[in-house]
Amino acid sequence: MLAIINKISRLEKDQPDASLAGMNATDVTLLDDVRRVFAKLECDISNGPVVPNVTPQEIRSYLTLRYDFRKPLALNDIVADVEHMLRTWQVQVTHPRYFGLFNPSVTLASIIADTLVAMYNPQLATWRTSPAANEIERHTLGWLTNNFGLPTNSVANFTNGGAEANLSAVIVALTRAFPDYGEGGLRQLAASPTIYLTHEAHHGFEKIAHMTGLGRRALRRVATDRDLKMDVADLANRVAEDRKAGFAPFMVVSTAGTTAAGAIDPLPELARFCRSEDLWFHVDAAWGGAAIVSPRLRGHLAGIGDADSITCDAHKWFSVPMGAGMFFCRHPDAVGGAFRAENPVMPEKTVGVYDPYTASVQWSRRFIGLKLFLALAHHGESGYIEMIEHQARMGDELRKSLKRSGWRIVNKTPLPLVCFTRDGLITAKFLAALYERQIAWMSEVQLGDSALVLRACITSFRTTESDIECVVREMSRIAAGG
Ligand SMILES: Cc1ncc(COP(=O)(O)O)c(C=O)c1O
Repeated sequence: MLAIINKISRLEKDQPDASLAGMNATDVTLLDDVRRVFAKLECDISNGPVVPNVTPQEIRSYLTLRYDFRKPLALNDIVADVEHMLRTWQVQVTHPRYFGLFNPSVTLASIIADTLVAMYNPQLATWRTSPAANEIERHTLGWLTNNFGLPTNSVANFTNGGAEANLSAVIVALTRAFPDYGEGGLRQLAASPTIYLTHEAHHGFEKIAHMTGLGRRALRRVATDRDLKMDVADLANRVAEDRKAGFAPFMVVSTAGTTAAGAIDPLPELARFCRSEDLWFHVDAAWGGAAIVSPRLRGHLAGIGDADSITCDAHKWFSVPMGAGMFFCRHPDAVGGAFRAENPVMPEKTVGVYDPYTASVQWSRRFIGLKLFLALAHHGESGYIEMIEHQARMGDELRKSLKRSGWRIVNKTPLPLVCFTRDGLITAKFLAALYERQIAWMSEVQLGDSALVLRACITSFRTTESDIECVVREMSRIAAGG
């Protein structure tokens, strides 16, 4: 890291230096240095602890003692210290034995991208302020729009994450279903709008209902089948009952890869139902959406191309750093209506393109899409297929290995997310032992009304069979009281 700082500060200070003039800074300096630093970091993290053991007070005292901000400090020293803190005091989500909450290991190309974005700091609010960045994002999103099977005139934006993409979906769906919503607000509507989703849907929808003014009670929880997928018959009943009771159903939120168990709702049936009932069909594929790239997995997402809107996070299974969500919508007019904005201060509109600040939640916007563009261009579709299918294979390995060792698998999904248990297991106690021995990071989860179980999701393209073997062996030892 220090070598990079030295070179970047030389570029900052010594612009006139003849040896640097005319060079392409990224080719000449950044790539090689980041590659070396990253290789070392990968190695250190893979061989180091996964789980930190620290109290808030310890970190606060450390910071208070060192950083009163009165006097400037040497950049080298600060960076070394911050790296020390990050290595010591965080769950290492890029560790091959981090089996966690969809936070991936990240590719070198995507790290370089984020570094370039910070250095050039392009402003993507309008097309005119950064034509290159805007077109790179449009091009990248077009590739995924096509993969999902959405029409080519669909609108797509990068977002900070899945929560923002889901918020965008609700705002656009409301705007389309209730033309008075934008000007008069919900209080102008004759009936209260309602959204249908299961208990397995992402809990961010509670906040979205709160923030949009719908209210949390506008969320209708549809029953699930024994695989935790949305029950379409129950959905139909609830919509009919709500209509009878004077509510205004307007949206169904399905999930393709639920957070807890990786379940995929029955997308084709839901698409048909929504079409027949004139309901907005949203697919939250924040994690599972990347499976569309894989010939082996994409069949499980059949029906996603009929969605009115889709959420998919690049910072999950596309293995780029946070934050990089994506929002796709097949109704450009509804998106334009929901986010329209006029401002005489902003640069003049360019004919034939849209300005992202008039078609998304954000105003000023960072060049989020470069990390996916660079990683895709570097690895190619074939590289991504390999990364995604490798993780799916590791998920299968984990399932098999657990079963062989007497664990019970309690969820059903083709995606690499495994929920499991065994008789007498006390999850909190078990996880404490797992963390203390630095074997792996995983979590506990409650599926439906049943007791807590363990949840392990493969999120690293570096996880190998031997990581899995080692983790299952050690877990069985702990469970046996060893
Ligand atoms: C299915 C699903 N949707 C949405 C989100 C929220 O995404 P983000 O954390 O990127 O905002 C998550 C997060 O894990 C998720 O699993």
